[in-house]
Amino acid sequence: MALNVAELGVLTRAANVAVEAVTRAGTRFRRASRILVVDDELPVRTMIGASLERQGYDVQLAGSGNEAMEALEQNVFDLVLTDIVMQDGNGITLLERMRIQQPNLPVVMVTAIHDISVAIDSMRRGAYDYLLKPFEREHLVSTVERALNYRQALQESQNYQQNLEQVVRARTEMLRQAMGDLEHSYDVTLEALGDALDLKDSETEGHSKRVTAYTIALARAMGISPAEIKVIARGAFLHDIGKMAIPDQILRKPGTLTAEEQQVMREHCSRGYHMLRKIPFLSGAAEIVFAHQEHYGGSGYPNGSRGAEIPIGARIFAVADALDAITSDRPYRPARSFDAAREEILRCSGTQFDPGVVEVFLKIPNELWHELRSEITGQDKRFSTFDLVHVVQPPTR
Ligand SMILES: [Fe+2]
Repeated sequence: MALNVAELGVLTRAANVAVEAVTRAGTRFRRASRILVVDDELPVRTMIGASLERQGYDVQLAGSGNEAMEALEQNVFDLVLTDIVMQDGNGITLLERMRIQQPNLPVVMVTAIHDISVAIDSMRRGAYDYLLKPFEREHLVSTVERALNYRQALQESQNYQQNLEQVVRARTEMLRQAMGDLEHSYDVTLEALGDALDLKDSETEGHSKRVTAYTIALARAMGISPAEIKVIARGAFLHDIGKMAIPDQILRKPGTLTAEEQQVMREHCSRGYHMLRKIPFLSGAAEIVFAHQEHYGGSGYPNGSRGAEIPIGARIFAVADALDAITSDRPYRPARSFDAAREEILRCSGTQFDPGVVEVFLKIPNELWHELRSEITGQDKRFSTFDLVHVVQPPTR
């Protein structure tokens, strides 16, 4: 399509208006950038300052390193141009001071040709670039633009980093809350399992809670990690859960069990193990449930395991279980003292109990067991292994 002269003129004017608008926008953008020009020679700093102001930058001049530091304290700059050789000290010293105070502020060193090695050295010390005097205005402008673009990229990357850190913090907090909720639901599940066993065997409730508290206290005294203690505590609490599968006529039989009945009764370890091992948060506890009747010397059941073959949680539980059994009333005998329990546990060290666990147990004063026992007896709140792990204090001796 051919255009006449008038139409061409309109188009040219429109194009010029567009170019001016773009230039004004660029100028507005540049005005936001503040540049500090440091040079002890007035004509030089004035010339640089004027060139940059013509580009629309907001320029401040300083005649010495000290003046520059003062200006930096009072104003925020996006870029510093500094001479290297000045009367009151050199630009390298100023560069080093600025790098310490404002490490993200780009610095361009301005220098005469004979200072080239110093200029290169200054870049090793953190200067962004250098300008060799005398320089063309275009060279000055392009160096300044590059340095400002670098500054902007640096800020954007830092903002991104900061946002990322905030997001990570927020997500970590959400995860922590979710883990807390999950932990709580684990305890609710444990309670439900405990309640189910109570329906079968009403004697176990107080026993399970006490033996769990004793197990936790012992495990802590042995230096077991809190995460492992939780697993052990759940195993201790559910140790007899397999009794749910034992017929009532055997479980509640008042007299002595026949050999056959005893055999059925002994199945409660593996029954409990199979009930729990498929529940992910109870699979560790299942191992303790399976081995809770093993004896250190190998005379226990179901496997007759000995020593370190028995999980440490089960070896700790065995001592805690005996402690509670001896100090609780039984239909055929009254409760005995904690001192009597100590003697009995020591007597069976190496045969029924792990001597390492017994040694730690004997160092714990009776007061702790008394305290735990009365705390659990008077406890009307629901059981929580999570709470217990935090509540049970380490032994004082
Ligand atoms: Fe048992």
